[in-house]
Amino acid sequence: MRAGSQPWDTNVTIGEREWFLAQRGQDAGTYISAPFQGKATRAASFAVSRRRSTPEGHFDGIIHVALSPEYFRRFFLEAAPPGPSVAGLIRDDGVILARSPAPAPYSRLGSDNILMRSIADEPDGGVLFGVSSTDQRERYYAYRHVGSYPVYVAFGIDADVALGRWYRNLELYGAVALLSALTLFLVSWLALRRAEAEQKALVQLQHESEQRLAAEQRLLQAQKMESIGQLTGGIAHDFNNLLAVIVGNLELLRKRIKDDDRARRLLEGAFQGAQRGAALTQRLLAFSRRQDLTPQAVDVPELVSSMMDLLARALGPSIQIVTRCPVDLPPVRVDPNQLEMALLNLAVNARDAMPTSGTITISAHQEDMAEGNGHGLSPGAYVCVSVSDTGMGMDDATLARAVEPFFTTKGVGKGTGLGLSMIHGLAVQSGGTLKLRSELGKGTTAEIWLPQGQAVVVAPVSNKTDRPEHRRCTVLLVEDDPLVMTGTAAMLEDLDHRVVEASSGEQALRILREDASIDLVVTDHAMPGMTGLELAERIRTEWPALPILLASGHAELPERRGLAVPRLTKPFRQDELEHAIATVVTPACEPINVVPLRRS
Ligand SMILES: Nc1ncnc2c1ncn2[C@@H]1O[C@H](COP(=O)(O)OP(=O)(O)OP(=O)(O)O)[C@@H](O)[C@H]1O
Ligand SMILES: [Mg+2]
Repeated sequence: MRAGSQPWDTNVTIGEREWFLAQRGQDAGTYISAPFQGKATRAASFAVSRRRSTPEGHFDGIIHVALSPEYFRRFFLEAAPPGPSVAGLIRDDGVILARSPAPAPYSRLGSDNILMRSIADEPDGGVLFGVSSTDQRERYYAYRHVGSYPVYVAFGIDADVALGRWYRNLELYGAVALLSALTLFLVSWLALRRAEAEQKALVQLQHESEQRLAAEQRLLQAQKMESIGQLTGGIAHDFNNLLAVIVGNLELLRKRIKDDDRARRLLEGAFQGAQRGAALTQRLLAFSRRQDLTPQAVDVPELVSSMMDLLARALGPSIQIVTRCPVDLPPVRVDPNQLEMALLNLAVNARDAMPTSGTITISAHQEDMAEGNGHGLSPGAYVCVSVSDTGMGMDDATLARAVEPFFTTKGVGKGTGLGLSMIHGLAVQSGGTLKLRSELGKGTTAEIWLPQGQAVVVAPVSNKTDRPEHRRCTVLLVEDDPLVMTGTAAMLEDLDHRVVEASSGEQALRILREDASIDLVVTDHAMPGMTGLELAERIRTEWPALPILLASGHAELPERRGLAVPRLTKPFRQDELEHAIATVVTPACEPINVVPLRRS
């Protein structure tokens, strides 16, 4: 012993010490010994030694430092985190230099120890999981090579502590993450809902504005039709009066020029012209919904089958007609002649749409309409009579205007464009409607919806060719138009009746009060002041048995409750006037207790 930091007993030798032996024969570099008990201090220690050599390389002693394992144990204890853990200083051959918290029960780790196996694989450092051979606890170990020394520091923490911490962190992070995810979800959901609500509102707004636009267009169209109707109806009414005069006078003239053939031919021409004028006026009145209708219960299948010959002739051999009506179809309430005309018009339209060949299907079915049905019909039972064709159909623009009066695609002189508008007028005036469906190139279906009628016992139809016998009646003729007055009076006189004239309702009442010889009153309806219907009401009250005939080309007669006045449609021919008179008075001028022609 040459020098030392501790007092030294010179008799003590270290010649047998492992580190001395390791350095003596050769230079072992920095040699770290296994723990031993110091001879002088009697304390446990391990030595870090270096060899001293002479310039020639001979052994010249050893410098060694004895380090206390206890120092490392305390250091590890202070440095370690709370909770059960182990730390150790291990020489690369497995010798345990120091261990915390307690010294190891053995001094060296075998080569099969998990830490030693891991050091063999990864000599610089690493992490491993295993069961401690000291206390059989599961631990996570981390180790590291200390600088250039053949020593490793190893630290092991109990698995449940490490995982516990990890789980706690995980719980915390998890809770934070869950909360964030929930917030995100909630925000996204609210945003989505808001976007959906906005989208819905937008769609609804668009839908409503489209509906409003469509309703406005419908209203505009309806107003247009209404004004055309009023204008045309007014003109047609006046025109009707003129025609009544012309037809009446022509009739009388025909009787007077019996032998002059040339004059007769001219007269017939004028007569036919007037008749055509009357027919056109009827059409105008029909679409303006002012024609004089005689609605009654009509059996549609019967009416259609009675028209078959007429239809076959009108349509020609290239067109097939199919009818489809259920056996228990209830009757409809409509003017049969007008319905026949409407069906004929539809069939002609269908024929025009099928220039080469095709099929027309006439069908009917019953349907109950509820409140707010899409057809604009008031609730109730209806019968839909439809005419379908397999023709060229209509494009949207044509379909939209087809019902308009005077709209035609058939060219000048071919179509008047009044067919569909007339049918529409008839349907609406009868309490129903007309619906058109069409597909270009496929065909068209026209549906006439009419209110269901009550089944009635059909009254025997009077034979129009019978000339009733009569005696001379005294007729009070009420008419504000002097021209019509003259014409009708002439007709009546020609029929051998005596005519008393009144130009207003008031004058008629005065005459009736003074002249008891009046057998019958024939009155116009549209008169300034008291209308024909009002006059009829007054007469019914004062002279209930006095027969009345109401002459009118105007359909918009308000029905009076319980008042049923037989009517005469203007312009009328003499034989029509004669027949109408025969329905209200006997040939002996006695009033007939007539079955009212029309009930309210
Ligand atoms: N069945 C149909 N197929 C194709 N187009 C049709 C049909 N029915 C009507 N139309 C179209 O509607 C238009 C109007 O028809 P509407 O019956 O009112 O008058 P029109 O037939 O032209 O003349 P009119 O009836 O006076 O002879 C027709 O010109 C035609 O373009
Ligand atoms: Mg037509």
